[in-house]
Amino acid sequence: MCPVNKDWRKGAPIPAWRPDLSVGNAKLDEQHIVLLELGRNLLRMLHGHAPRMDSVAFALQDIYTLCRQHDQDEEEVLRHNACPTLDEHIESHRATQETLAKLLADIAQHAIDEPELSRVITDWMAHHISENDLPVKQYLKHKAGSKARARATGH
Ligand SMILES: [Fe+2]
Ligand SMILES: [Fe+2]
Repeated sequence: MCPVNKDWRKGAPIPAWRPDLSVGNAKLDEQHIVLLELGRNLLRMLHGHAPRMDSVAFALQDIYTLCRQHDQDEEEVLRHNACPTLDEHIESHRATQETLAKLLADIAQHAIDEPELSRVITDWMAHHISENDLPVKQYLKHKAGSKARARATGH
């Protein structure tokens, strides 16, 4: 239920990373910080005067590449820690990757919908960490020792 923004260039900003967005895993936190920064750069470029589409395409490609790496790293940790919602998490990653891939294809075809690109990046960045990752934070923290913890809480 986002309010319709008549001027998409003034859309809600991508949130700055804050310590309460930490998932307790330095590598994943670092990737989140860089993703948010890349997202802000892309929007700055897109919302500026006469954005160059080749520059926007490069910026989006950087986001896509890091997104795929980040998703893969997250899934590896979640799998290792036997996260019960791993399949759903993977599905949400796949959906985002598909959306980004479509936007990249649109740019390559010179058919990019700039307000749509702005909306997708803003929405994804605003919700990715808080709604997808923080709920499974306990499974993102450690790669080692999960078996020992499982045994310790066994019975
Ligand atoms: Fe993430
Ligand atoms: Fe995730």
